Order: sequence, then C-alpha cells, then structure tokens
Amino acid sequence: MIEIRNLRKWLGGSAVLAGVDLTVREGETAVVIGGSGAGKSVLLKHIVGLLKPDEGEVWVDGERVADLDRQGLARLRGKIGYVFQGSALFDSMTVAENIAMGCIGPDGRPAVGRPAPEEIARCLRIVNLDPSVMHLMPAELSGGMRKRVGIARAVACPRRYLLYDEPTTGLDPMTADVINRLIVDLDDRLGVTSVVVTHDMKTAFAVGDWIALLHEGTIRWSGSAEEMSHAEDPIVRGFLEGRADLLAV
Ligand SMILES: Nc1ncnc2c1ncn2[C@@H]1O[C@H](COP(=O)(O)OP(=O)(O)OP(=O)(O)O)[C@@H](O)[C@H]1O
Ligand SMILES: [Mg+2]
Repeated sequence: MIEIRNLRKWLGGSAVLAGVDLTVREGETAVVIGGSGAGKSVLLKHIVGLLKPDEGEVWVDGERVADLDRQGLARLRGKIGYVFQGSALFDSMTVAENIAMGCIGPDGRPAVGRPAPEEIARCLRIVNLDPSVMHLMPAELSGGMRKRVGIARAVACPRRYLLYDEPTTGLDPMTADVINRLIVDLDDRLGVTSVVVTHDMKTAFAVGDWIALLHEGTIRWSGSAEEMSHAEDPIVRGFLEGRADLLAV
C-alpha cells in the first residue's frame, strides 16, 4: 500500500505540493491527472525517495520513506518499477543494457554488465516486443517501442509497485491504446499496485480503478471513471472537455 499524508513540497520558490493526501491500496491502479507543471512527476519522485517532503509523510509497504537509510532506500526501490517520463533510455546503451539497468541489486547498484540474453528476451516478451530488438540502440526505436522498453526495464525484476509517468504522452492514438492495454494487462498479470500520472484522459479512463485530480497542489477531486464522467466540479469538467476557460475558475 502507498499512503501519502499531507505532503507539502516547495520548489523554485513556490508550493508545488500543498497538502496532498492519497492512498493506493494493494492491487489497485490509481491514476493521478493534472495539467503540465501540476506536480505529477514531483509526486512520483517522493514515492521512491528521489525527493524528500518538506512536510507530511509518504509510506510505502508499511515503511516511512523519509526514515529509510541508503540500504533501506535501495531495498524500497527494488520493489518499485519506475517508468520515467519520456522513457529516459540511455542513448549510448543497447536495449538489452537499458533493460539490465532496471534491476537494482541489494547493494543499491544497477545490475549492469552482461545480463543473460534469455532474461532480456523474457522482459521484451512481457511488453510484446520481439527479442531481436535487444541489440538495437534507442535511436533506432519508434516512440511506442521506446515506451515499451521503458516498461520492460521497470518490470525487469519482480516488483510490488509500478509507477508510470506519462506513459502515453507523445504517442499516436493507436499506439497509446496499445500501451494502455499493456498497462492493464501487466497490472492483472503481475498483480502489482500501480500509480499512473498523466494528462491523457483516455489513459486515465482505460487503466484507472480510480482517478484523482491534482490541481494547485492538492487533490481537488477523486473517484471512479464513471463518477468522473458525471462530475460537476468545473476543474474536472475543464479537464474532461479540454477547456482552459473552466480551469481558470
Ligand atoms: N528540482 C526542481 N527545482 C525547482 N523546481 C522544480 C523542480 N522539479 C520540479 N519543479 C517545478 O515543480 C513544478 C511541477 O513539476 P512537475 O515536473 O512535477 O510537473 P508535471 O505535473 O509532471 O508536469 P508535466 O505534465 O509537464 O510533466 C513545475 O513548476 C516545475 O518547474
Ligand atoms: Mg511530469
């Protein structure tokens, strides 16, 4: 379970997170939507301890992230697969080497070196890519393939949690749909607890057990996709309808 209580974070002179409360129960897929700059990536970084709260608490798997020492953080990160915004592949490494970077050993170091090709092939098959792409460089991949390799890296080790930062941004609608289905399929197959942050409403509806709207530093609204489609909150409607005039309320 992931529990975020009254999380506050100031960055660049402003309160990016101004008291966020969010609880994601085991096995759920939660979606956090919010505009560009709303603090979605900042929120995810707190879950893995890449950022520390100024106030409030983040609990993962019964542990308060701020209490963890180096080893504790490495152990925590071993349980969490992180699909970074924009895939964040290493351009000078092959697909296989990128995927191998996804496994953090107990010493907190990535398992670089020469991973068994069968292992890499298994990871690629999980995301429906042909194992032959393991020899390619990221520059040789399409946007959708890059996203899949980013996901393959996140699931290279057994995980309890998966965090997805904008998994479909920049993809055409068909490829985005393929990625949405992959997320749902993976969450079912691997039985993980997931948090997806996105401003893509199609992704939110396709993958979320429930959806929360991050707006002006707090969770403005949360509920099921069904509840969201009938919500009267003007900010929620602005998001659903892509209307900036409603967001200005
Ligand atoms: N390390 C940092 N130092 C200063 N400001 C930061 C830092 N990281 C993020 N910010 C600021 O915090 C705000 C939220 O950033 P964040 O990256 O979380 O937005 P986001 O919701 O993920 O946006 P996008 O949808 O564009 O990815 C932005 O105004 C950003 O400039
Ligand atoms: Mg972001």
